[in-house]
Amino acid sequence: MPKTESFYSSAEDATSQEFLAKGYVIREVADRAALDAIRDAFVAFAAKHLGIDVPKDPVRFLNRLHDIVPVEKLNDLRLGAYRALNAESWFRPTYFELGRPYINDLVGNELAMQNRINLSIQMPSDRTALLDIHADVFSGETPYQVVQWVPLVDVAETKSMFFLEKPKSDDISARFKDFSDHGMTGLFEAVRDDLTWIKIDYGQVLIFSPNCLHGNVLNDTEETRWSLNCRFTGLFTPYVSAEKSLGSFYLPITPRPVTRVGMAFRLPGGFEE
Ligand SMILES: [Fe+2]
Repeated sequence: MPKTESFYSSAEDATSQEFLAKGYVIREVADRAALDAIRDAFVAFAAKHLGIDVPKDPVRFLNRLHDIVPVEKLNDLRLGAYRALNAESWFRPTYFELGRPYINDLVGNELAMQNRINLSIQMPSDRTALLDIHADVFSGETPYQVVQWVPLVDVAETKSMFFLEKPKSDDISARFKDFSDHGMTGLFEAVRDDLTWIKIDYGQVLIFSPNCLHGNVLNDTEETRWSLNCRFTGLFTPYVSAEKSLGSFYLPITPRPVTRVGMAFRLPGGFEE
């Protein structure tokens, strides 16, 4: 065994450096069959909800949802699918498998995961699904987290989300009050030319720091976006609010044996001074 100067493996180091430089990484999902199973479950739920046969071409069905569902009926479908899938005991563990190695590299292997996985469906020209530029820490989220964002269709440009890479985002956040006169719209216009529009094909996963500025705009493509997102944090990181605390909003998913043994340990009597 040669001597080494690093506590990180070279793969860990590469992912870490990329994340620290940009605030996000895009990777192939670690388990393609898991992703297909999740997509199939959403397609099956949607078909049942709409009273139609399960479509033979799931890609076309998801991309062209707006051809068969009016926008005012969309939220019923979205909420129904969200509730049905989150009620399945396999959903969160299977979702975790999509990005597990990268989350382990970036966050650690002793993790807490958000109690629900969110579903976004953004149809072309749908104004109800807009998310202004923001950083999640501004609304009480812990800064010690990543979001795993997984599209169920290929996404790019306005069908996707935008992200301000870490150096620029840190710079803007540090002088936030310079933008306060014009609100979030002014902020968006100020950084518009610097934004990265996330391009991901089905089969890939985005893992990002929501401390960096991000959001979406009106989908002016001709296809509907379906995407899932969920937060992961280190089990022993600070939890900044009661609302977003461990045991309710976040649930432990991978406590290690030594943690379990340590937490269960009670010092026997007779050792007191
Ligand atoms: Fe966000």
